[in-house]
Amino acid sequence: AFNELVFSGVQPTGNLHLGNYLGAIKRFVEMQARDAQCLYCVVDLHAITLWQDPAELKGQIREVTAAFLAAGIDPARSIVFNQSQVPQHAELAWIFNCVARLGWLNRMTQFKDKAGKDRENASVGLYAYPVLMAADILAYRATHVPVGEDQKQHLELTRDIAGKFNNDFSGSIAAHGHGEDFFPITEPLIGGPAARVMSLRDGTKKMSKSDPSDNSRINLTDDADAIAQKVRKAKTDPEPLPSEAAGLSGRPEADNLVGIFAALKDATRDEVLSDYGGAQFSVFKGALVELAVEKLAPLGAEMKRLIADPAHIDAVLADGAARAEAIAAPTLDAVKDIVGF
Ligand code: ADP
Ligand code: NA
Repeated sequence: AFNELVFSGVQPTGNLHLGNYLGAIKRFVEMQARDAQCLYCVVDLHAITLWQDPAELKGQIREVTAAFLAAGIDPARSIVFNQSQVPQHAELAWIFNCVARLGWLNRMTQFKDKAGKDRENASVGLYAYPVLMAADILAYRATHVPVGEDQKQHLELTRDIAGKFNNDFSGSIAAHGHGEDFFPITEPLIGGPAARVMSLRDGTKKMSKSDPSDNSRINLTDDADAIAQKVRKAKTDPEPLPSEAAGLSGRPEADNLVGIFAALKDATRDEVLSDYGGAQFSVFKGALVELAVEKLAPLGAEMKRLIADPAHIDAVLADGAARAEAIAAPTLDAVKDIVGF
């Protein structure tokens, strides 16, 4: 048995990008060195909170799975699976819908961003998204969740739901032999130099799948030429690089490029700047192109190789779903007893 249980997910919404890799997938790989059972989920139930073309969705699910495997997630060691194949996620989400409070969800900024101006026309699923995310995590009673900075508020909601469930049902939890608390108060793991990768054309906006007009986004399936072109075109300011990280404040584009370099290199911003402090962006971008191509081009090529064998990907997902369900099913049985079903 492992000491920790790590859970995280990525939506199969197409166009996996550098932010998804540095803020999430690369860190998922690193978690495998811990004393932890890791579960990495392709969250298709989350994806359909916004319209997804049914003819495209299966391919998108396989693409995220391929990215997990190509990046170095070992499906023998970690559990790699697809959310809709494990029914306990949706079942626990309903119970949590009855634990979470309307006022908590009303504060979620991602809903406001994604719903946009026409909020009345947003899906109910988009609104309840963070409750499903709490169910994803707590169906496994996960102790740690590595995510990008944009998920911080949702992780706080997960903690609130776990705490309220433990509190509301404390008598029943004890009566069923589970001690004081049934759910852990999960620890978010947000960090590293690229917890929030910004758009390469606008350092004040997050690099995101969902902005189709942003062609500066580095996608994980981009080839060397595309990566080089996008890095060279990235917006910068006219000053040379500072010699330490403190000098990046107020310079969002410089901060972003140095953060990306640091994350790709497994270094800190200060370490990067001890090499490139005083350099012009033309020089630094040249080094970044070389590093990004070295790290990303083989990843993209391996993704394409894996995507060409969908039967293998589907077999990995089927095996993962069975192993995930073996953990989640007893949790749901216990939850139902606790609730009084
Ligand atoms: P997106 O936000 O691109 O639609 P997801 O919601 O599926 O993608 O997020 C998958 C993971 O990638 C999450 O852990 C999220 O925090 C992380 N992530 C997404 N965008 C970025 C970014 N620009 N920088 C760092 N991490 C990110
Ligand atoms: Na996100």
